[in-house]
Amino acid sequence: MKSRLLGALICVGTVTLPAALAAREAGQKPDAAATNRAGEPWRNKNLSAAARAAALVEAMTLQEKLTYIHGLFPNRIDPRPADMVPSAGYVPGVPRLGIPTLRESDASLGVANQMNRRTDDVATALPSGLATAATFDPKLAYAGGAMAGAEARAKTFNVLLAGGVNLTRDAWNGRNFEYLGEDPLLAGTLAAAAVRGVESNHIVSTVKHFALNAQETGRTILNARIDEAALRESDLLAFEIAVKDGRPGSVMCAYNKVNGDWSCENRFLLTKVLRDDWKYPGWVMSDWGGVHSTVKAAMAGLDQESGQELDKEIYFGAPFAAAVANGTIPVARLDEMVRRILTGVIASGLYDDPSPSAVQPIDYAAHADVAQRVAEASMVLLKNQGNVLPLAKRARKIVLIGGHADVGVLSGGGSSQVRSVGGVPIEIPLTSGAAASFVRVTYHNSSPLKAIRAIAPGAQITYVDGKDPAAAAAAARDADIAIVFATQWATEAEDNRDIALPDNQDALIDAVAAAQSKTVVVLETGGPVLMPWIDRVPAVLEAWYPGQRGGEALARVLFGDVDATGRLPMTFARASTQLPRPGPLGLESLKNDAASNAGSGTNEPVASFDVDYKEGANVGYRWYAAQNSQPLFPFGYGLHYANLSYAKARFTGGAKPGVTVAITNQSDRATVAVPQLYVTLPDGSPLRLAGWNRETLAPHETRSVTIAADPRVLARWRDGRWRQAAGSYKLTLATDAAHPLQSASVALAQR
Ligand code: BGC
Repeated sequence: MKSRLLGALICVGTVTLPAALAAREAGQKPDAAATNRAGEPWRNKNLSAAARAAALVEAMTLQEKLTYIHGLFPNRIDPRPADMVPSAGYVPGVPRLGIPTLRESDASLGVANQMNRRTDDVATALPSGLATAATFDPKLAYAGGAMAGAEARAKTFNVLLAGGVNLTRDAWNGRNFEYLGEDPLLAGTLAAAAVRGVESNHIVSTVKHFALNAQETGRTILNARIDEAALRESDLLAFEIAVKDGRPGSVMCAYNKVNGDWSCENRFLLTKVLRDDWKYPGWVMSDWGGVHSTVKAAMAGLDQESGQELDKEIYFGAPFAAAVANGTIPVARLDEMVRRILTGVIASGLYDDPSPSAVQPIDYAAHADVAQRVAEASMVLLKNQGNVLPLAKRARKIVLIGGHADVGVLSGGGSSQVRSVGGVPIEIPLTSGAAASFVRVTYHNSSPLKAIRAIAPGAQITYVDGKDPAAAAAAARDADIAIVFATQWATEAEDNRDIALPDNQDALIDAVAAAQSKTVVVLETGGPVLMPWIDRVPAVLEAWYPGQRGGEALARVLFGDVDATGRLPMTFARASTQLPRPGPLGLESLKNDAASNAGSGTNEPVASFDVDYKEGANVGYRWYAAQNSQPLFPFGYGLHYANLSYAKARFTGGAKPGVTVAITNQSDRATVAVPQLYVTLPDGSPLRLAGWNRETLAPHETRSVTIAADPRVLARWRDGRWRQAAGSYKLTLATDAAHPLQSASVALAQR
C-alpha cells in the first residue's frame, strides 16, 4: 500500500528535496533515533501542545515537513491510494513519528458526500446551520457537532471542514443556510459550541471562511472592502468568539480578497489579527483553490495549501521547496507552519488518540434523534392568527400542497451536502452555472405527508403537487385545512438572484389562501424570503432546511407535540428595497468564470470587482435600526403556542452588566423562553445583542433568569484596540430586536 501511495504522490507533484538542501537539513537535525532515546518529548502529555509540536518538528526531516504543508484533492487523484477515499482532502502523515495522515471531510451539516462520490456512503443530515442558529442553543450546536464528529471519526476522517461563521450580510447569499445568521455574538457562540462538539471526538475542526466571504457570486475573484473598525466589530468578532471559545485546530481562509489582498495571503488577517491579536496557536489552511502565491502566502501566514490540484500551481509544493532552498522562505517559517499544524493536531486530541484506520459501526438511530431535536427547536412560528396552529389531531381533512411534501424535505446544495440515511427521493442535476459540477438539488427522505399521517391517524390527509394553482385551490376548498409547503433552494457557488419565492409559489399561496381561510404556509428556505401574501395567510412556520428528520419534526411542531420555540437568526425584509444591496454584485463578470467552485476549473481571476460593505458593522438588524426601517420579521423573533409573562426586571451595571427577570409560563404546555438582552452604547450606535438565555419552562412554571451582557459587544474598536467607554449604557430586555419589554440605563466604567 505504501508504494502505491508514494507512486500517487509523485504523480501529483509532491516535491523532491533539492540535494543541497537535503544535506544542509541532515546536518542541522538531531537524528530520529537520538530523539527517541531522549524520550520522545512529543509524546509527553504534560507538555503543552505547542511544545510537543515543536519537538516533533525538530524530529522531522525537511522532506517530511514539506509534505505536510500541502494537501491533495482526492477527487482529482487517479488512481487513488487505498487509504484515500473521495472527500475534500488528504495530507500524508509521518508514521514513524505518529504524525497522522490528515483525512479531511466537509461536515457543516453532517459528514458530506457530494454527488454520492463515495457510493451510498450515507451519514446523518442535520438541519441547515441557519436552523441550528434559530435554536439559539449552544447545547444543540454542540450536540450536532459531536454527532457529526463521531460519524466522521467512525468513517476514518479526522479533520472536519466545519464551523462556517460568515455573517449574513446579504439575504440572497447562496450559502447563508450553512452559516449562523447575522449577529456576531450568536454566530460566534454557536460556532464555538459546534467546534467543541466536533473536537470532543479527538479530531480537528476548522472555522471558516476567514473572512468576508459574504456572497457566492464571483467569490474567487471579488474584493470585499470595509474599514477595519467595522470589520473588527462584525465578521471578525464572530470569528474571534468562535476561535477563542471554540479553540478549533484550524482556520480556513476564504476565496475572496479583503481590502485588496487575497484572504489566503492577507497578512493583516492571518498574522496581525489571528496570531498577534488573538494569539491563535493552530494552523491556517486555505480554501480549496484559494491560493495564489508561494512566498507571499507563506510569509503572510498561510500554513497549509488545501486541495492543491485546484490551484493554478501547487504553490506549497515544488516552488515552496525551491524558495526554502534559496532562502526566500526561511526554514524557520516552514518549521512554524508545521508546528502550527501539529499544535492543532495535538490540541484536538488526534495525535494521542488517532482516528481508526477502518470504518467503524455508527448508531444512526441515536444520531437521527439529534437531527430531529435540532429541527424541532429550530422552527420559527412567524404568524398564527386565530390560533390556527397547533393543528387538532381530530382535524378531519387536511390537504398538503407542493414542496414535494409527499416524499421529503429540501436541503441546501454545495460542499456541505450530506447523502442522508434513508436515501434521496429527489436528486436533480444542474445543467449550468458555477455549482453544476458538484451539486444536485437534493431532498432528504423524510416525508411530511407520512409523518403527519402518523401523528393524526384519524384524519384524511391528501397531497397535491401545487403545479396547478387552480387545482390546489380546489383541493384546499374541499379540505378543513390547507398546508402549503413553499421552497427556496440555495447553493454554494451561486447566489439567489433575489429573495422572492421562485416558481410562481406566491401565486400558488394566494390561490390557496383565497379558497381556504385556514391556510398554513410552511417555508423550507435557505434564508429570508418575501411574503407578499402575508396579510392573507393566517399562519406561517419557517422550517429552514430541516434535515433528515425534518418531516417528523414538522409534524410534531404543527400538531403541538412540541412548542414552536425557534427564533430568527436573521432579519426578514418586508421589501427588497430595505436591503443594503439590491442583489448579487458582479454577475456580469461571471461570463468566463468556470472557477467558482471546488469541483472545476482553476481559480485564476478573470475580472476582479469590488464589493463595498457600506453598512460596515451595522449588519442585519443594526442596519434596519440605523435606517429606521421596519422589517417584516425582526432578528430574534418567533411566536410560541404557550403564553409567557415577564415580571419586573432588575438591571445591573458596574462590573457585571446584565438583567435578571422572572418568567412565567402561563400555559398548560411546556415551552422554552428565549429572552434577549440588547445594549445601546453611549455613542448611540445601533443596538447590539449582548446576551440571551434559553430556559425550558414546565406548564405554569416560573423561573428567574439572569442574562449577563457579554463584554465583547460593549466595546468598540478604536485606535487599534478594543475600548469600552465610560458612560451610560441602555440595556433592553426584549423578545426580539424590535420588541423591547423593559429597559434601563446603567453606568459602566472605562475598560
Ligand atoms: C468550500 C469550503 C469547503 C471546500 C472543500 C470549498 O469550495 O468553500 O467550504 O470546505 O470547498 O470541499
